Amino acid sequence: MRNDPELLDHILSHIDNGTTDLGEEDWYEPVENYSSQARFDAERRLMRRLPIAFCPVAALPELGSYVARNSAGVPIVVVRDLEGNIRAFRNACRHRGMQLAEGSGCTKIFRCTYHGWAYRLDGRLEYVPHEHGFPDLDKDENGLVPVHSVDIQGGLVFVTQDEPVGPGALESLPALLTDDQVLFDSSESEDDINWKLTAEGTLEGYHIKPTHPETFFPYGYDNLNVVEMQGPNARVCYPFRRIEKLRDAPRKNLSLDRMVTLVNRIFPFASVNRLSQHYDVTLAEPESPTKTRYFHYKLTLPLPDGAALTDEILARAKKDVAFLTETGNKEDAKVVTDIQAAIGSGANTHYRFGRFESAIGHLHKNLARYLKKLDELETDVIKIVN
Ligand code: FES
Ligand SMILES: [Fe+2]
Repeated sequence: MRNDPELLDHILSHIDNGTTDLGEEDWYEPVENYSSQARFDAERRLMRRLPIAFCPVAALPELGSYVARNSAGVPIVVVRDLEGNIRAFRNACRHRGMQLAEGSGCTKIFRCTYHGWAYRLDGRLEYVPHEHGFPDLDKDENGLVPVHSVDIQGGLVFVTQDEPVGPGALESLPALLTDDQVLFDSSESEDDINWKLTAEGTLEGYHIKPTHPETFFPYGYDNLNVVEMQGPNARVCYPFRRIEKLRDAPRKNLSLDRMVTLVNRIFPFASVNRLSQHYDVTLAEPESPTKTRYFHYKLTLPLPDGAALTDEILARAKKDVAFLTETGNKEDAKVVTDIQAAIGSGANTHYRFGRFESAIGHLHKNLARYLKKLDELETDVIKIVN
């Protein structure tokens, strides 16, 4: 990925020449892949065998902080234990399977609300009420069940539930969040949309002028983007018009904060977006072919060296969130809702992604590559079993 000075020069050359980044090939995605249950099931099985961005590290600020949610349909709890290590477990009591944590919070111990079994944050089963009723129970063998692995990279917690089919997003991850960014809001939403439609809507600027004529377009350009790939991930840059003021700025230590929107697609379900005055981390949890739950986290921009977070910085970040929520995001939501409603129309067997939409082709191509790997591994297992 280009650094900010390189990015600036590349954008200025597009502005001067009336050009944009072009991909090398078209991509045709079968419409069936947005609605088929078999495809959804395969994507879900794949999700359990790849590192999936679960939450920002900033969502676990203290010893004992936890976040519990479903990932690929499996209840998972991620916790910062009392030694500071981030761990992830299947969120199910070893007695009769009650979930031990809900939402987010901070705790010293996970105490099951059903019969009171209690687990330390490193997963060990600590206490069983009236333990003499379980004479054969070996507490050391009945701790919380960890996931296959947890990785902390780019300021995100990645959870791999089962033996991975490959490194996925961690093949090569771009720089994302820094330690000084403050989490100031988190929320959930649910849409009657296939997750891929929403992801696609963030990955090209070809639509900016027609879809957002009075909201985003006045601040930006018509179809002017820088599209970069890193591993299966992609980054799309949307410059603001005010970037032209930087034409003669010294390139040393130059930052494009407030001059560009950067959309990072972290393969396959996460979006980490550097916006004008804040960062947005959105994590998708596909629930069915036509339903997706989203976990949203809003963080401040990185602070300039040595600077402290001020009320003014926070107010600007919140104003930025409100602007997007009230304007362009609504326009994007209408587009994906309308496409979803027309999916069964029979008009298209494939959706066509052209040279301006190469980041979308990249997502689909890598998804297809990993689904193929999964299919080969599953076929091997069937062969061994038979
Ligand atoms: S299910 Fe947790 S203590 Fe019984
Ligand atoms: Fe849009």
